[in-house]
Amino acid sequence: MTNKDINYEKGLKSIWTESLANNQEPDDKALLNHLKTVHQHNAGFTEKCASTCRDEAGRNSYEWLAEIVPDIDGVRVLDLACGSGPLLKILYDRNKKLRLKGVDMCPEELALAKARLPDNVVDLFELKAQNLTAIDDNSIDVVLCHWALTLMNPITPVLNEIRRVLSSGGLFATLVNGPMDAAPGYSDVYNLIYEYVQAKLPKYGEIDLGDPRIRSTGSLKNILSEAFPDANVNIETSVVTMKGPVAEVAETAAGFFYASFILPSEVHKTMLLKLSDLLTISKQNRHFKSQGRFSMPISRLVVRK
Ligand SMILES: C[S@@+](CC[C@H](N)C(=O)[O-])C[C@H]1O[C@@H](n2cnc3c(N)ncnc32)[C@H](O)[C@@H]1O
Repeated sequence: MTNKDINYEKGLKSIWTESLANNQEPDDKALLNHLKTVHQHNAGFTEKCASTCRDEAGRNSYEWLAEIVPDIDGVRVLDLACGSGPLLKILYDRNKKLRLKGVDMCPEELALAKARLPDNVVDLFELKAQNLTAIDDNSIDVVLCHWALTLMNPITPVLNEIRRVLSSGGLFATLVNGPMDAAPGYSDVYNLIYEYVQAKLPKYGEIDLGDPRIRSTGSLKNILSEAFPDANVNIETSVVTMKGPVAEVAETAAGFFYASFILPSEVHKTMLLKLSDLLTISKQNRHFKSQGRFSMPISRLVVRK
């Protein structure tokens, strides 16, 4: 896939979207191709939304997940699918003596992570989560995965690799979408975006990125319990919210949904206007722009090996 395949006027195309358009089930290669295509041209987009949305205590989802890491010098942490590196940066700023590693399959995301983290302090590897060749057995105390497990298919090799690299008594903690109804208005936002997406690609949604079992916290818990049979899996759910000028809130929120990237630019603009209407909490007056609010449900799952 090259730059010429990205056509914002017509919306992003990949082998995965072509499979959907042809009523075929996309395979693993198509999924990787699609994810790489999206991230190559929009590196850092997850962070843009996730770092702005905060819970009632003022924490964003990176900060909430980072709390799992004990603040003890020398603790070895792997951020699986680290993207542009916001979680590693939080951990590095908190304790310079943590031993941090990050893995991602997308070089454009890793370049952003490299730029923000001091050289030779954090080890970053371009690898797939299914095959963590650079990470030794039993060499990690905490594996973190922020908003990426949902995208991984096949998932079993990923969980096998996590189990392999974790030391005995080590922790695996992942942040995923929470139950839709946990955040007010979230399902309306989801439905609006998918309505536009399905007008272009009717199968998008029925078929989505990653293993469908990871999208529900209940079935994810079952998969984790199978992969870590002797471990206790703990789930907590929370809600994070962003507020601000509604046009900005709508753009940032929509940008968080992979599905929105397939919309042709004119359709995308129309969708944003509708989304702005949905998210408005106060109308423009002489002194203020219209304000908006977007809330997302999140779940944190923690497994102790
Ligand atoms: C939604 S982004 C999250 C990035 C980062 N964890 C964050 O929350 O800001 C998903 C990331 O997962 C990476 N990714 C998806 N599937 C992967 C796989 N099988 N192996 C490694 N990285 C993968 C993508 O390249 C992308 O950087």
